[in-house]
Amino acid sequence: MSRTEEILRLLKGADGYISGERIARELGISRAAVWKQIAVLRKKGFSIHSQPKLGYSLTFSPDRLMPSEVRDGLDTSVIGKEVIYFPETESTNLIAKKLATDGAREGTIVIAEAQTRGRGRLDRNWLAPPNKNILMSVIFRPRILPSRVFLLTMLSSLSIVKAIKETATLHALIKWPNDIYIDGKKAGGILTEFSAEQDRVSFVIVGVGLNVNFDPSLYPEIKDTATSLSVAFGKKIHRVKLLQSILREIEKGYNRLKKGNGFQIHNEWKTYSLITGKPVRIISSGTVEEGIAESVDEDGCLVLRYKNGKRKRILSGDVSLRLTE
Ligand code: BTN
Repeated sequence: MSRTEEILRLLKGADGYISGERIARELGISRAAVWKQIAVLRKKGFSIHSQPKLGYSLTFSPDRLMPSEVRDGLDTSVIGKEVIYFPETESTNLIAKKLATDGAREGTIVIAEAQTRGRGRLDRNWLAPPNKNILMSVIFRPRILPSRVFLLTMLSSLSIVKAIKETATLHALIKWPNDIYIDGKKAGGILTEFSAEQDRVSFVIVGVGLNVNFDPSLYPEIKDTATSLSVAFGKKIHRVKLLQSILREIEKGYNRLKKGNGFQIHNEWKTYSLITGKPVRIISSGTVEEGIAESVDEDGCLVLRYKNGKRKRILSGDVSLRLTE
């Protein structure tokens, strides 16, 4: 935790005012250093009232996804226990991969307010203006075969739609394999990456990009296909609350998975599927196929039914899917 974060933690824990002297004593720094950090916090948008003899009191926190904010009131025991935060970084997935390779513990999350090289599936660019959305990567160390990694994507997309329902009362759907849709437009996506040795997964990174308080209509490249929670809800969403809800849901789902109840995740996921029963076009390395998306099976494959009644199972891998109606 940085100095600023530590001071924020003390301010939040204070019942009213906390003196500069006490902060200095608890953190082993000078009062001048405390004052400097208070100035940093004010610059970041926190309102801190100071009163001679009494000290400092926090009166307003901006909606920033800083560790002290995210951890405050979060009752998970694994997911989000460790929060790594960047006002800006290349890509949270990239950082999470490095951390996981260096032994970071399971449940560590990497959050950024902005990314300079945010990536989506199929090597696409992920667009997100600073301080408005959720850009996060979660590190998992599951004891599963590489062929079961899709379950982590499933549980994460399921967690996101449940959290959206809880926080913004919106009914989001999941477009196989890993897009979040609201009102027929994309509101978020997941980029899952993993490392495995032989048949053992050593870590999985689930990268989540969710459009929260952002207006995609201002961006020509996505204005026709993207939406956000605030656009659909008509009001600004509290990002910290939404993120906490997602983390709680992920932890619940992950516990189910660890108990061998992956089928429950699959069953619940199916109830949020956007494409089931609909005509779709599947584009994969130059080939295009059309049919009805009959179901998503327990191996995470899309079951496509052709006009002639024949069926084909399609792995999510490098495919892109479009609804054709
Ligand atoms: C997609 O829909 O193609 C997936 C988008 C995933 C974007 C997120 S943002 C946080 C994390 N870091 C990245 O570089 N990508 C993922």
